[in-house]
Amino acid sequence: MAIDTIGLVGTGAMGSGIIEVASKAEVAVVAYDINAAAIEAGKARVEGSLDKAVARGKLDETGRDQAATKITWTTDLADMRGCQLAIEAAPEILDLKLDIFKQLDGILPEGAIMATNTSSIPIIDIAMGTNRPEQVCGMHFFNPATVMRLVEVISTQRTDAAVAQAAAGFASDVLGKRVVHCKDRAGFVVNALLVPFLCQAIAMFETGHASAEDIDEAMKLGAGHPMGPLALCDMIGLDVMLWTAESLYDEYNERFLAPPPLLRRMVSAGHLGRKTGKGFYDY
Ligand code: 3HC
Repeated sequence: MAIDTIGLVGTGAMGSGIIEVASKAEVAVVAYDINAAAIEAGKARVEGSLDKAVARGKLDETGRDQAATKITWTTDLADMRGCQLAIEAAPEILDLKLDIFKQLDGILPEGAIMATNTSSIPIIDIAMGTNRPEQVCGMHFFNPATVMRLVEVISTQRTDAAVAQAAAGFASDVLGKRVVHCKDRAGFVVNALLVPFLCQAIAMFETGHASAEDIDEAMKLGAGHPMGPLALCDMIGLDVMLWTAESLYDEYNERFLAPPPLLRRMVSAGHLGRKTGKGFYDY
């Protein structure tokens, strides 16, 4: 089935990034969130980023205006009835995702692909809440989705191989991303390697071994990373970091994967990084 219309569930940081990427690729996007305030915030994020792309010379004004016309903003999930692919980028709460997938199951046409952008919930647990688990796969984008070139396509034990291939084909041929395929294991490829490293940086900061600025500077200048690990944690969001670290620890039970206490305390304190104005740095 050709994919020319997709649904995006959730217009937060990741959802709005994926909405923008798809709209720039001339894909019609039905962008859903739960209320008008969430939609307004998502719309502002996409428009702000499209303006930034113009300012950076990545897009001309016509391209920006055309991209904006490809997006239909809605608070009614039933508006996805014509979508050949739905990507869910809602908060990392299993019951919430199960509810969304159950509804999508009753809305999407036969043969549609149901993908989740989850970074911490086993995809099979989401898939088994639907009547068509063979149509469910992971499509994991990276933050910021407009800039990061990778999409991980994740197959569960029940994913139809043709579904994973179609999701991968859409990500590469239409969205212009580079795809890697992997199994439904905590962390997939990138987070399984990245998150333990980021947690080690938090633990190092917590012990007073070095300042946040020096840890970040060291990894930028000494290891060629585009940004330091603590700044990256702030960008990812410390709540997302904690959920992802917990999923790795739950899956493998290795002590070195346990989230550092400081990460838990910062999340409890509401210091979630850039999105709340305070994390390892102030914004
Ligand atoms: N639209 C299009 N292009 C944009 C853009 C936009 N809105 N905003 C920026 N860009 C482009 C810029 O033009 C520039 O392109 P160029 O290199 O061709 O000139 C490039 O993106 C970099 O932009 P900036 O100059 O503004 O910013 P920096 O050079 O400081 O880079 C960064 C910012 C891309 C965030 C970089 O620091 C980086 O790559 N950091 C690491 C990010 C990372 O690791 N992300 C993954 C996190 S893990 C994750 O998401 C998984 C989850 O499950 C936890």
